[in-house]
Amino acid sequence: MKVFFIGAGPGAADLITVRGAEILRRADLVLYAGSLVSEEILQYCQEGSTCVNTAGLHLEQQLEWYRQAKQNDWLVARVHSGDPAIYGATAEQMRHLREWGVDFEIVPGVSSFTAAAACFGAELTKPSVAQSIILTRTTGRASGVPEREALAELAAHQTTLCIFLSGPHLASMVADLRQHYPYNTPIWMIQKATWPQEQKHQSTLETVLDEVNPQEWALSTMILVGEVLEEELPDVSRLYSSQYTHRFRRREKNMTEA
Ligand SMILES: C[S@@+](CC[C@H](N)C(=O)[O-])C[C@H]1O[C@@H](n2cnc3c(N)ncnc32)[C@H](O)[C@@H]1O
Repeated sequence: MKVFFIGAGPGAADLITVRGAEILRRADLVLYAGSLVSEEILQYCQEGSTCVNTAGLHLEQQLEWYRQAKQNDWLVARVHSGDPAIYGATAEQMRHLREWGVDFEIVPGVSSFTAAAACFGAELTKPSVAQSIILTRTTGRASGVPEREALAELAAHQTTLCIFLSGPHLASMVADLRQHYPYNTPIWMIQKATWPQEQKHQSTLETVLDEVNPQEWALSTMILVGEVLEEELPDVSRLYSSQYTHRFRRREKNMTEA
């Protein structure tokens, strides 16, 4: 038996990696988190494989499937949304597999925060504006956030924020963010990025609460915040400047001489 934890990507079936799709073609058992993973990815599964939506299963019920796979020496694909390393609750599954001596491997995926940037046509880092990205969330019913990571603390960095799992808490988030970010800072929201039902809203910390109903953005919503999103910022990267040289690119004059 071997288990592959596979990142399905944000939703569109063709955003799973080639490696992930290739493992689905060989898997005997496919466990997928159906609340966020599109069933379209099941098109990659081989005929006769067992596909189980784990959205309604608690951990012990999922472990029961792993036990069955161990008895039958199955190849298991455990499919999580985005990248499995981020809010995937994979560690608790891996702990049990380690205890049972079951081999596992992780296949990374396109996370929803980079998918969100792509859907907006945005870059999340710009020289002298933001060179760090904070991935965070607000406290939820299932998972608490350590006090030292409170949004109001993280906001003090005034860098790019990608906020997961937090749509319903928009009002308190905006209040925390306004403590440090200027009110005209962009806040962009995207729900179900790359799915047919995708919804987007671009706003600022000043006006967003007048424009959206947080309850409508409760599920599958990524929130991006930061000056970096301002579209009118001047280009200050020197990376592609003709005057900037590095080991892979010599000065233009030298290149024509070469
Ligand atoms: C349990 S976390 C899983 C995150 C996932 N591992 C990732 O890398 O994107 C679920 C949260 O991810 C975000 N998310 C996942 N898929 C999304 C999508 N297609 N569009 C917008 N946000 C998404 C939302 O914030 C959602 O509440």
